Amino acid sequence: MSSPIPFFTLRVQPQGDTADAWPEHSLLTSLEMGGLNWPSSCRSGSCRTCMCQMTAGQVRYEMDWPGLLPEEKAEGWVLPCVAFPTQDVTLLDPQA
Ligand code: FES
Repeated sequence: MSSPIPFFTLRVQPQGDTADAWPEHSLLTSLEMGGLNWPSSCRSGSCRTCMCQMTAGQVRYEMDWPGLLPEEKAEGWVLPCVAFPTQDVTLLDPQA
């Protein structure tokens, strides 16, 4: 019998830093718990301060309309403060 995966791996490019990405925590929280510096302000999916591109992986949102346009979502833009990982995720550091 296999046990559920307790967490995923969150990678930050181009640095290659990693953190544990807990399914029940936002990506922003997991970045901070992993000691990685990330821009943030509202922490509620509206100001877009934390916005970045996801180059691999998948996330889910608990809100219907996080502050992203459908086209932005289609291009891989995510809001880590309200995005929850459903698999391993790679983000591009907006400060890099
Ligand atoms: S911190 Fe404001 S949208 Fe993420």
